[in-house]
Amino acid sequence: MPTIQFVDLAAQQLILGDQISRRISTVLDHGSYIMGPEVAELEELLAARIQRQHCVTCASGTDALQMALMALEVLPGDRVVVPDFTFVATAEAVRLVGAEPVFADVDPITYNLDPESAALAWDLPGPSPVGIIAVDLFGHPAQGEQLERLANRHGAWLITDGAQSFGAMRDGRSSLSHGVIATTSFYPSKPLGAYGDGGAIFCDDDQIVIALRSIRNHGADVSRGLHDRVGLTGRLDTLQAAVLLAKLEVFDSEIEARQRVATRYSTALCDLVSPPSNPANVDPVWAQYTIEVEGRDEVRLNMAEKQIPTCVFYPRPIHENAAYTACQVVLGGNQVTSLATSRVISIPIHAYLDEPVQDRIISALRSALVGQ
Ligand SMILES: Cc1ncc(COP(=O)(O)O)c(C=O)c1O
Repeated sequence: MPTIQFVDLAAQQLILGDQISRRISTVLDHGSYIMGPEVAELEELLAARIQRQHCVTCASGTDALQMALMALEVLPGDRVVVPDFTFVATAEAVRLVGAEPVFADVDPITYNLDPESAALAWDLPGPSPVGIIAVDLFGHPAQGEQLERLANRHGAWLITDGAQSFGAMRDGRSSLSHGVIATTSFYPSKPLGAYGDGGAIFCDDDQIVIALRSIRNHGADVSRGLHDRVGLTGRLDTLQAAVLLAKLEVFDSEIEARQRVATRYSTALCDLVSPPSNPANVDPVWAQYTIEVEGRDEVRLNMAEKQIPTCVFYPRPIHENAAYTACQVVLGGNQVTSLATSRVISIPIHAYLDEPVQDRIISALRSALVGQ
């Protein structure tokens, strides 16, 4: 029986290999490995797709968040509201600029930042938060409009951390169209993944984009040859831009394929688990297919015995990790996050998962759940 990959980059490579090789050869021929023409070409295509004025590619999704916070001039000690249920990088970026994450709870259905819980961050004693970072967890768009209204009410900003959601839509708009800045990641296993690290930042503000371009390149003002601010080595490699350009050509069909897998899973499993929510106005990009189960360890063991890989994204609230235990948690203690992190498992989902393999996964999960 063929081995099942959690994310099958080799299957994608079989289909896209020629286009990717052609794109890479072009870079090897012109030799502009840093900020070559592919970077500008990619930025133009991505900005048009997201319908934002500017796209600044960068070295990773974490750099994208850190650069966004630097461009917004977040200062040491500033508070920034983040969901407690996310990948650690969301909070890590806040700490990297010396600011303090305040952890809020998530919605029990979508696992995205709960606007009511986020609002409680303004009731805490001490300084008011300067902004909110919303995460489109597992590729499902966050409540961008409500969170923008909350931020505006308090004179704060919203950043959308779309590391998992490039390609996701709500009401016909990209989820990355929300927030003064939105970021994404091109980590290889992401829906649009490079062959190494990469990320991108989107905004509509002409001053912010000047700051972002300077921060990505050691704080340089290239026209004057001066360094007015401290920056990073934050550029996306030209070779990664070339890979992404090749992958973008099939990206829409890959999203559709992911959606088909998710629909089959949900239909086949809905009598045993609550499938991830998929309202009519939302087109998630299905970065993960994540459900809650009782007896998670046993279910995973059962699946592993049948050579079905599973993952736990994420096993505990961020605030319970040693690097973050000193940070603030909003009133209520983030009960939804606590329960979800103790129960979630993710099963394989990608665009090249054929129906017989999906059926093996479904049947292994059903017997693991029923056999408990
Ligand atoms: C929600 C979220 N934010 C930020 C990141 C960081 O992206 P990168 O790994 O490209 O630094 C990730 C990566 O998994 C993520 O899932």
